[in-house]
Amino acid sequence: MAKSSSFSCSACGASFSKWSGRCEGCGEWNTITEDKGLSSGGPAKKSLGMRRGRTIPLTDLATEETPPPRSHSGVGELDRVLGGGLVAASAILVGGDPGIGKSTLLLQAAARFAEAGVKTVYVSGEEASAQVRMRAQRLGLAQAPVKLAAETNLRDILTTLEAERPQLAIIDSIQTMWADHVDSAPGSVSQVRAAAHELTTFAKSNGISIIMVGHVTKEGQIAGPRVVEHMVDTVLYFEGERGHQFRILRAVKNRFGPADEIGVFEMTGAGLSEVINPSALFLSERGQPSPGSVVFAGIEGTRPVLVELQALVAPSPHSQPRRAVVGWDSSRLAMILAVLEARCGIPFAGLDVYLNVAGGMKISEPAADLAVAAALLSAREDTPLPADTAIFGEISLSGALRPAPQTENRLKEAQKLGFTSAIAPGGGKSVSVKGLSQRKVSDLTGFVGEFFGA
Ligand code: TYD
Ligand code: MG
Repeated sequence: MAKSSSFSCSACGASFSKWSGRCEGCGEWNTITEDKGLSSGGPAKKSLGMRRGRTIPLTDLATEETPPPRSHSGVGELDRVLGGGLVAASAILVGGDPGIGKSTLLLQAAARFAEAGVKTVYVSGEEASAQVRMRAQRLGLAQAPVKLAAETNLRDILTTLEAERPQLAIIDSIQTMWADHVDSAPGSVSQVRAAAHELTTFAKSNGISIIMVGHVTKEGQIAGPRVVEHMVDTVLYFEGERGHQFRILRAVKNRFGPADEIGVFEMTGAGLSEVINPSALFLSERGQPSPGSVVFAGIEGTRPVLVELQALVAPSPHSQPRRAVVGWDSSRLAMILAVLEARCGIPFAGLDVYLNVAGGMKISEPAADLAVAAALLSAREDTPLPADTAIFGEISLSGALRPAPQTENRLKEAQKLGFTSAIAPGGGKSVSVKGLSQRKVSDLTGFVGEFFGA
């Protein structure tokens, strides 16, 4: 009897024994494809080691416990996002839109790691070696001791890596790789999964760190099965807006460091350069205080970052007014509008609302609530907030303000950047920072009364 095949969903990675039009796991349509990967018909896989299935007492391990060895590229923004350097034998996935600068970033990283004494191989499946060399020349990296390979066959790549024994291998990109025991096209779900699986297993058993580049779909997820994100130790997203020169490398998963850490870069004619002080950069385009513009004192990962929020509120010609948000969560905006209406009696019905986080930043912190509310009110009332004021605080559904974590870091960063006052939630531990006056507010109604005279 023929061996039964298996099927899996390209969106969530769930496996099924038969095909269907809709995935029962995630409810997506037309995402189930047949798997001809890994388990069916491939060559026998090598055993991972001699001690298969044996257990070790936890206490024995504890005596050997040392922090994992890390190498540093010297690119501070990259090392920090990795959690303080590259962990030996780790697997990292770097996702991002086409053309955002992934190859540029990783070629520069490869050069810097190699210069720092980490033996590095850069495998390109998208460009010929000559093209990679040309790019390196343009980036001023032609002399870096990096080895290049232009290859897409996984078996050949693993053979090369076995011979070269590098400490770091960069695979650009996972969607161009193909394993010859999987008979579907490169970039397909089963190929991406097989390639990622083989590469991560290889990384672990040979003590090589592997960085894989992954393209992102229109929906903003790494193209291929979701399981790839679970296989690797670290998932980084390289984000930015095309019109802007800023690029943000964001850790969304990290087994070896904090998630949500960001590294900020600027795309220049000579490649990416680090932005050591992102607050100064994000605020650099800010002009005179204007209605709708406020500065939010935020925390990204382990570091305070000041960003400008801009709001525009205008009478709507539509029966259903527009709510448009760039860089923040649209359901959170709806919540703030509802709280303003229900608790403070300030309606936004019949008004279009636009909210933008300047500089292409994306904010996910609830501590931005008060800054958003301030931007909306300031735009609606056509009244600028006092100049040189930074603001933060989380708003609850009752309209009360909650203290935000890391208050001191936020205030210090604001003071460092020349702000003279801050609006912060009352309650919690009080912190004072020299040269910065604080206005404490305990609820949204009080805030509206104080700053917008309602
Ligand atoms: P690339 O790294 O090829 O993007 P990805 O690998 O994510 O697809 O970057 C391509 C863009 O970066 C391209 O639009 C040109 C721009 N760029 C610069 O602005 N300066 C540079 O020095 C380089 C190498 C690229
Ligand atoms: Mg590329």
